[in-house]
Amino acid sequence: MSSLHVEGGRPLQGRVAVPGDKSISHRALLFASLADGTSRVRNLLRGGDCQATLACVRQLGVLVAQDAAGTVSIEGRGLRGLVEPSSVVACANSGTTIRLLAGLLAGQRFTSFLSGTPQLQSRPMGRIVDPLREMGARIIGRQSGRFAPLAIEGSPLARLHYTLPVASAQVKSCLLLAGLYAEGGCVLTEPAASRDHSEILLARMGAELEIDGLRVAITPPESLQAFELDVPGDLSSAAFPLVAAALLPGSELCLSGVGVNPRRDGLLEALTSMGAVLRRESLCEAGGEPVADLVVHPAQLHGAEIGGAQIPRMIDELPLLAVAATQAHGVTRVRDAAELRVKETDRIATTVAELRKLGAHIEAAPDGFVVEGPTQLRGAPVNSHGDHRLAMALTIAGLLAAGQTTIMGAEVCADSFPGFVDLLRTLGAKLAEVEA
Ligand code: S3P
Repeated sequence: MSSLHVEGGRPLQGRVAVPGDKSISHRALLFASLADGTSRVRNLLRGGDCQATLACVRQLGVLVAQDAAGTVSIEGRGLRGLVEPSSVVACANSGTTIRLLAGLLAGQRFTSFLSGTPQLQSRPMGRIVDPLREMGARIIGRQSGRFAPLAIEGSPLARLHYTLPVASAQVKSCLLLAGLYAEGGCVLTEPAASRDHSEILLARMGAELEIDGLRVAITPPESLQAFELDVPGDLSSAAFPLVAAALLPGSELCLSGVGVNPRRDGLLEALTSMGAVLRRESLCEAGGEPVADLVVHPAQLHGAEIGGAQIPRMIDELPLLAVAATQAHGVTRVRDAAELRVKETDRIATTVAELRKLGAHIEAAPDGFVVEGPTQLRGAPVNSHGDHRLAMALTIAGLLAAGQTTIMGAEVCADSFPGFVDLLRTLGAKLAEVEA
């Protein structure tokens, strides 16, 4: 376990690129495995969660290689070419890995066992197991299938018509993958728009998708085509230096080549509504995804009301938004975000508990939190609780605080953002890693 010492008060200056998008990287590895032919992916995320997905597809017989320039080649085995894994498929700490794989494996002609860390085993799986069982999937898990480990005995799947109880791209993507194998495919309706990276990539691979507002239908294809992909920078990673630079006087930051999919950019919208000065430049497209350079300057923020359809568009950024809200004039209220309670940690409870240690005025609500600002945060020891996004949000809080903040268990930043500490240092932050 490592701790990170953070010195507050220094501006962030410079132009940097953040690592590839985590959600897109998972999908690139999983979907390419089902393609006919070899897919080539540049800027694939090397974070712990995607390394887990890479190891899982290898367990299913997929060959993955990397050339000197860092391009990753994935030799697809076709829709029916995966092989039965000889041991438990290890999903590490990654919810995206286990949920998408469960959908992909439900319609195979072999049996698989999926598990991961104790933290992953405590996350809800009923949300995928129930609709998969409706399709005819044979799945066993702890507490009647509510928790991993999961055993999946591949079986023929039937058409599904399903309304998701929560807006979740993991559930939607799991069911789309199962739909590739279901007689008659599946039709899904979401309560609000979640990220659509699966739909974008599957359509590029030649899958027949029909999208109408919050409804998506997939027809099982004969085959899927291999693809070339440049993974955009991850907006959920760019968000950390971006918020620091939006608040620290003297900062001037450009984050280049960041994915700005409209189903992911809720934080940019929220910060702008709070008075932040940020621009999108050089807008272009990569692999069907919009990409831009994000330029940010510091400004005085004010509080905002955040809820409804905004929430799935910034679900992973909400702990960081709480940090920004501590510096905003007035009250910031986040509602409709009960999903935060079933992330890597209960992110309402952990964000509130840890930010209070730094002096923040923040109260938990059943489905969100309320922050009153502005507050001069004061450096103190805080804990990541093994949650990468919390660790990074606390690092940004440390940059805004007076004195030194120490984040215990900071090594988890690498689950989604390898090089996080070095990137902040490049921009002028003073950070020191200490092995505990
Ligand atoms: C993800 C979807 C979101 C998000 C997670 C990644 C994905 O989870 O929080 O970090 O790649 O599909 P939910 O689908 O559970 O909301």
